[in-house]
Amino acid sequence: MTHRLDPVPPERLRARQQAAAAPLGSGAMILPAAPVQYRSHDTERPYRADSELFWLTGLTAPGVVAVLRAEAGEPHLTLFVPPRDPKEELWSGPRPDPEAVGEQVGADQLHPTTAMSEVLPKILDESDSVYIRLGGNESLESLVVEALRRSRGRGQRRGTGPRRVVDPGEILDELRLRKDPYEVERIRQAAAITLRGFRALEAELAPGVPEWRLQAVLESVFRGEGGDGPAYPSIVASGSNACVLHYAANDRVAGPGDLVLVDAGAAVGLYAADVTRTYPVSRRFTPEQGAVYEVVDQARHAAVEAIRPGTSIEEVHVAAVTRITEGLVELGLLEGEVEGLVEQEAHKPFFPHQTSHWLGLDVHDVGAYGRAGVSRVLEPGMVLTVEPGLYFGAGAMDAAAEKAGRYAGLGVRLEDDVLVTPDGWENLTGALPTAGWVQPG
Ligand code: GLY
Ligand code: MN
Ligand code: MN
Repeated sequence: MTHRLDPVPPERLRARQQAAAAPLGSGAMILPAAPVQYRSHDTERPYRADSELFWLTGLTAPGVVAVLRAEAGEPHLTLFVPPRDPKEELWSGPRPDPEAVGEQVGADQLHPTTAMSEVLPKILDESDSVYIRLGGNESLESLVVEALRRSRGRGQRRGTGPRRVVDPGEILDELRLRKDPYEVERIRQAAAITLRGFRALEAELAPGVPEWRLQAVLESVFRGEGGDGPAYPSIVASGSNACVLHYAANDRVAGPGDLVLVDAGAAVGLYAADVTRTYPVSRRFTPEQGAVYEVVDQARHAAVEAIRPGTSIEEVHVAAVTRITEGLVELGLLEGEVEGLVEQEAHKPFFPHQTSHWLGLDVHDVGAYGRAGVSRVLEPGMVLTVEPGLYFGAGAMDAAAEKAGRYAGLGVRLEDDVLVTPDGWENLTGALPTAGWVQPG
């Protein structure tokens, strides 16, 4: 092994380009690389490739622009690649030769980016729609605006040129929603490294442990085991910090008797894992903590068990919500018949988020959750999280008044990453137990 990761296999790229080109008709899809971003004046942030460009081309370098079209039903890829620049390379390292980049990606045409203002207008003039994400790249967008203007100007005479601008997600989101075997393998790797990080963190749990130290232990595994690092800001939330859903300060010391909610995931080759476990820092629950935890774990289990092709993502959520609602009745926080309470969404003050989101190159991955009010039906190859929670922060306390007092400040979430398989599900993170913490007997 000379490198951390193998490149995306060319046959995979070809299959994706084929699938993306098929619905393009006479349109052209323009995907620019993500911009280089800065922090604290002139310090570059670690570069994160654009997910769509990576999915289509496997490229992770800045500066590239890919244009996909369909010619006689086959994908036709034009690539604009920055020319080599010895001055720049002194600082940032050697860039591959543009020819090598073109070959790696299977480009049909290769141009230096300096030729874009000359070549791209010609491509656009032959296209009836332009698939481009607006609001990110002014110089590209100005070429598109010019092409639209030209097209409108001569439209009555020749009827050529673009008249429509469409977001590339219109085509790519659906394709990215069903993961190919290469992608599933990457998510598996991200999940495996994530679980190793959680196991290392578990060894450090003790009253008085700082949140930041637990974060450091996790993230050192995420990178040290060959991952890209964290896929999103790690949440290490002790005590009532667990009620802040995207808490990221990680600057408190866990007190004895606290729960610590840890929501973190490694990325591998840009693919994310997204796992949550909630631990009693002293390895022993109080009766209230144990009771709340049990309900969340059973909701997690019920939701995972509901996953199979043909089930909707809403049904997975309802499976979790039903168990959470039953649990809230058992805990004395809701009163009434479960079915009616589920219908009224009585759980919302305590479980205010959805059970699932898609997972892939983006931690909250692309893909519609429904259309025209109808929930999305699961298909093999989709990957989703299952992450029920119960939180007794200020909002929940208002809702349940003094009844919730004994639970005040508790927050529990448990999150797994689940692959939809032809006959059901595979829990990619299920090897990390949710059970086993001591409950008072
Ligand atoms: N880590 C963010 C989420 O679970 O959605
Ligand atoms: Mn998460
Ligand atoms: Mn999540």
